[in-house]
Amino acid sequence: MDYLPLHFDLRDQHCLLVGGGQVALRKANLLISAGARLTVIAPQIDPAFLDKLSVGMHTIVCREFMTEDVKGQSLVVSATSDRVVNQHVSETCHEQGIPVNVVDNPDLCSVIFPAIIDRSPVVVSVSTGGQSPVLTSDLRRRIEALIPEGVVRLARYLGGRRQRLKTAFPDIDQRRRQTVWFLGSAGATAAMAGRDAQADQVLMEDAQPSLGEVYIVGAGPGDPDLLTLKALDLMQRCDVVLHDALIDRRVLDRVRRDADIIYVGKQAGAPSTAQDQINHQLVTLARAGKRVLRLKGGDPFVFGRGGEEMEALIESSIPFEIVPGITAASGCAAYAGIPLTHREYAQSVRFVTGHPKDGVVSLPWEEMVNDNQTLVFYMGLGGLENICEQMMAHGRDPDTPIALIANGTTEHQRVLIGSLTDIVDQVRHTEVGRPTLTIIGQVVSLAK
Ligand SMILES: C[S@@+](CC[C@H](N)C(=O)[O-])C[C@H]1O[C@@H](n2cnc3c(N)ncnc32)[C@H](O)[C@@H]1O
Repeated sequence: MDYLPLHFDLRDQHCLLVGGGQVALRKANLLISAGARLTVIAPQIDPAFLDKLSVGMHTIVCREFMTEDVKGQSLVVSATSDRVVNQHVSETCHEQGIPVNVVDNPDLCSVIFPAIIDRSPVVVSVSTGGQSPVLTSDLRRRIEALIPEGVVRLARYLGGRRQRLKTAFPDIDQRRRQTVWFLGSAGATAAMAGRDAQADQVLMEDAQPSLGEVYIVGAGPGDPDLLTLKALDLMQRCDVVLHDALIDRRVLDRVRRDADIIYVGKQAGAPSTAQDQINHQLVTLARAGKRVLRLKGGDPFVFGRGGEEMEALIESSIPFEIVPGITAASGCAAYAGIPLTHREYAQSVRFVTGHPKDGVVSLPWEEMVNDNQTLVFYMGLGGLENICEQMMAHGRDPDTPIALIANGTTEHQRVLIGSLTDIVDQVRHTEVGRPTLTIIGQVVSLAK
């Protein structure tokens, strides 16, 4: 290992900063945020230091650096543009065994500043050993995206339970196993959301739970990059996945390798799994102690029957959580460049579904002919002709634009645009593909 990462408690420690320009100011901010007592030495000092450094706690000295300045310092940082001064500071500190950092010069450093993600008490540090600051900050950015917002609460929660855990699980290995199990459970999610009482029930129970839990998760409309961070995290932690027909293969590729993957899709004209059977499977798997991920297309609560699955879980007292996803209307509209609302064209949007029976769709048409309302139909093209006829028969302008979006947000996305009068004819002469979403309203004229 080139450098040993240590997290340095600098509260009330004396630190010396040599340099008075903008680079030094950035280091001063960092040291002050860690609670250091700072002495800044430089012949010229940026006036911004005066605002930052409160008198009494910190000291500003306007002169050149001298060897004896390092005496009594816990850490020295040299941030000058003068190579000779930097060299002098470094050599002095090395001789006296004081940790020293020289900005942008790893060869003169005994310690280097990592890039940090500060969600105190959680602090993550990333370093490339001074090789590439750009790579360091790129790695930092990627890691930051993986750390859930609730980690601060989770860390504080666990800190506050250390003594109770020690009493409940005196054996250190048993305690460790318990905490590892807790971190992957609904208890950790509860602690992150501030539901401490719920988290306590899980934390203090036996690590071999008799009851598992179910996560009903929205996988978005297709593009795997539209998965939420929470969905991705759960996909990596589940034991078994039950997924719909609409889940893209590339989304399933992100599920933990050794998880069981069970298809429970419903598709017109293909063998389907009955909803009761799915509900039953969720309950049975959770009762067997499994962490179950119910992965649904789009958002589970938008025409996704997530509500029925939730009711079945409540009835059987299975712990569960609902994780929203990007619904097809939002995803398809965004990728087709159609704003669902727009100050000048539509002040409301209505999501509609229905089952065409013999080509006839039964819907409250009178409520759907307002020109300032966008309509989004979540259904196949079987009822399209009837929908267009009914809209016009109830008074919607025949020139109203309409968009059909098939396989929205995926690489197979196809968008067909027409009007209430000609779209059916267009569909007769085109292979549109499915699943298909239909958007009707003036906003469609803005499609890119
Ligand atoms: C049973 S609903 C499920 C909706 C889902 N829960 C959601 O929030 O998007 C299925 C319908 O959603 C629409 N749909 C879902 N994903 C789609 C996509 N990627 N492209 C176009 N339409 C889609 C289609 O109209 C399909 O028939």
